[in-house]
Amino acid sequence: MKYFIANWKANKNLKEAEEWFQIFIRELHRIQTPNIIIICPPSALIYSTKQFIKNEPQNIFIGSQDISIFDQGSYTGEVTGYSLQDLVNFAIIGHSERRNYFHENDESLNNKIKQARKYNIEPIFCIRGQTDKILPEVKFLAYEPVEAVGTGLNEEPEKVLEVKKSLGLDQSAKFLYGGSVNENNVNNYLKYDEIDGLLIGTASLDPIQFINIIKTV
Ligand code: PGA
Repeated sequence: MKYFIANWKANKNLKEAEEWFQIFIRELHRIQTPNIIIICPPSALIYSTKQFIKNEPQNIFIGSQDISIFDQGSYTGEVTGYSLQDLVNFAIIGHSERRNYFHENDESLNNKIKQARKYNIEPIFCIRGQTDKILPEVKFLAYEPVEAVGTGLNEEPEKVLEVKKSLGLDQSAKFLYGGSVNENNVNNYLKYDEIDGLLIGTASLDPIQFINIIKTV
């Protein structure tokens, strides 16, 4: 059983999301996968996407792409764990794009993990490599080398395994890889038991490509 996480980033509007789910769910029924699927749409679409999957099997979940460092309160524009608690089961935390464009640091990321936990949201913590200083204790750790994210230059699986080894993760942790995974290279990763799943950006925007990736297992 593997984890497939779709990170839509800041892509799609409501109409496009609806079309995506229509196709995705139709295809999902055909393949009947036992794998865990987590779809992370932009925050504005979280409620609608949750509605789109409400009659679907237990192995499909909605996640957020981020979570505020703040609890509820006077923080205009923030998407808090408090507001997300009944909508998502997972939250991506520390994605390299957030670290880069929004200057997220060890302190803010730790706060985000705390907020997620407070509201029973499972953090999917992203690291860019051994260079990220903090390695909080999380159940889901996603290794996403920046050179591979959104570039088409996926990292060799052997290198990914080396990085995993160097991290000395807890046995129970789930180790995920992300960075230019697509239907052509996905098997190179999934054939290893040490890789528990994948974070998929660009290739998840097309429902058929995403289904083809899930189907490989
Ligand atoms: P990518 O993005 O698949 O487009 O490389 C992965 C990610 O950023 O999670």
